[in-house]
Amino acid sequence: MSEHTVLNMTPMNYNPDRPAAANPVKVMDLTLRDGHQSLFATRGRTEDMIPVAELMDEIGFWAVETWGGATFDTMHRFLNEDPWERIRTLKRYFKKTPFSMLLRAQNLVGYRNYADDVANAFMDRACENGMDIFRTFDALNDYRNFQTVVPKIKEYGMHFQGCICYTMTEPRLGGEVYNLDYYVNKAKDLEAMGADSICVKDMAGLIAPYDAYELIKALKAATDIPIHLHSHFTSGMSPMSHLKAIEAGVDIIDTCMTPYAYRTSHAAIEPLVMTLLGTDRDTGFDIHKLAQVNEILEKEVLPKYKHLLDDSKVSIIDINVLLHQTPGGMLSNLVNQLREMDALDKIDDVYKELPKVRKDLGQIPLVTPTSQIVGIQTVNNVLFDTPDERYKMITGQVKDLCYGLYGKTAVPINPEVQKKALAGYDRGEEPITCRPAEVLEPELEKAREEIGDLAVDMDDLVLYAIYPVTGKKFLQWKYGKEEPPAEVRSTSLEEAKAKEDLVKLARKGEVVPKSALAAQPEKSENTRTFNVFIEDDVIEVAVDEVGGSPVLNLIQAGGVVAAAPAAAPAQAPAGPTPAAPKPAAPAPAAPAPAAPAEAPKAAAPAPAAAADTDGTPLNAPMPGMIVKYEKEVGDSVEKGETVLILEAMKMENALPAPVSGTIKAINFGSGDSVPKNAVLAVIG
Ligand code: CO
Repeated sequence: MSEHTVLNMTPMNYNPDRPAAANPVKVMDLTLRDGHQSLFATRGRTEDMIPVAELMDEIGFWAVETWGGATFDTMHRFLNEDPWERIRTLKRYFKKTPFSMLLRAQNLVGYRNYADDVANAFMDRACENGMDIFRTFDALNDYRNFQTVVPKIKEYGMHFQGCICYTMTEPRLGGEVYNLDYYVNKAKDLEAMGADSICVKDMAGLIAPYDAYELIKALKAATDIPIHLHSHFTSGMSPMSHLKAIEAGVDIIDTCMTPYAYRTSHAAIEPLVMTLLGTDRDTGFDIHKLAQVNEILEKEVLPKYKHLLDDSKVSIIDINVLLHQTPGGMLSNLVNQLREMDALDKIDDVYKELPKVRKDLGQIPLVTPTSQIVGIQTVNNVLFDTPDERYKMITGQVKDLCYGLYGKTAVPINPEVQKKALAGYDRGEEPITCRPAEVLEPELEKAREEIGDLAVDMDDLVLYAIYPVTGKKFLQWKYGKEEPPAEVRSTSLEEAKAKEDLVKLARKGEVVPKSALAAQPEKSENTRTFNVFIEDDVIEVAVDEVGGSPVLNLIQAGGVVAAAPAAAPAQAPAGPTPAAPKPAAPAPAAPAPAAPAEAPKAAAPAPAAAADTDGTPLNAPMPGMIVKYEKEVGDSVEKGETVLILEAMKMENALPAPVSGTIKAINFGSGDSVPKNAVLAVIG
């Protein structure tokens, strides 16, 4: 572009067949990955992508992002969908638009570095299943973590897009660590590695418009490959940053279809199309075609998802991001975690502790998984530290980070914290400085032995290798060894609408319990129960589809709804007793959280848990999922020794024995979800 990059604006009427612009902005659509990951807890189902796939293929997107990030995890864990199958299915509908995935470099689609053999197998399968563009990032911007996956991308002739995670320590671009030089040097490193394009990955929506201008100008001057801007809307700045980046010559911009846009997602495509219409950067897109896609999404798809939208606030921007320079998703995870632990009043302490922990841990960028690592450790410090002891409960991931397993931090880790974290660490107390995966033993053969015949092909095996606990569960569902639970089944549009109607009634206080109605139909075996969240209340409803129209039965009510029709039970019909209301969860469980992003659902503790428990209980300090017990009944333990690993908010926490003694009872198993305060083991 010329030195004077102000857009050349020629007024014209809207014409879908207008002449092509000199240098059209290319656009990647994120609706089918980052869009639903940002707004709807990654719960988008393949069946809900198909209705718009062929139309979206006609728009002229540079690429569509369809996979990666959290999709792999969420699909097999919560949706009972094979993640690999999604690529193959969508490929049948997208005939010309390339597919892009978000690849967490050596973390692949998980939350830790995997051994090279797993990384190679994953890359083979991703390429062979149909992925075209690999948007590759490392949370620490340590490109040694690209060294295994990039040669695979090249081997298959696919597009390697290298990311620079955009982060900051100051209110604006600059400071000692994350300044213009930092980003320019990272871009040069990527170009030297053979990147086909470079993405500035602003996952938190932190980039300010004038910083975007300056940064893109500098990157365009320093490199010869296309520059792509990925900037979340969260703070409200991204549409302005997009425009300034376009003026600075950015090549590709990320957007979403309108129903999946804004809030913590991305700016919508349509305003951009109209903004650039008739300029030398006109996208050339037909806005009427976009409107068609939106209409289908709005009417046929979104009714199934909108209950997942966090609409607790009217504001669609998160001013906390501007105040704390911290990803919005990370903040909402912290809030959820505190809420689950009944400690929401500590949120200000968390905000104060967060920059300290981040600095101690080497001023790392905040992106998955580092945002969770810093976030969970911050919460642990606020909840468990005492005046004379800091970092009292250090998560396994922080230990790994201190050891060097994630890579090189932007600045050195606080040596005191590092020493404490590595005391008794099983890989060794001396941190490594090499490429992290070099110290990882091959994992694939071990995984193959463990899972045996349950993994039928390489896709299954890789899934199991990355997610052993939930992956095994999924494979049991997939091959009919175990009945998938009702909550992983998909929702029909009719069910979604019925639920929505119920919420509307409940909001008006007009919900009438089943027992108050005359002539009750009996519950069929197809009855499905749902939790409906209404502000801070949750009601459980049963939905039974009879003759095409679902019948709603209120079987348990809390808060608002419970208070409604007091006289009702007296009129209960004599006939068959309606299904007994489920007993409320036992006391220790907090009210069900309002659909936290990806936290496992807390289940009630096993009733047997309380039986003959003479001894000291080891309680769950937070709700989570048992990864594994390191001890068995009868084993002796020293105080402080790890008894089990509990996964909470995706972080693994080693829970130590509160006293020395013998394990008297173990109340759960690997894969079980537990509420806060559940008795996990008893030591006597
Ligand atoms: Co993103």
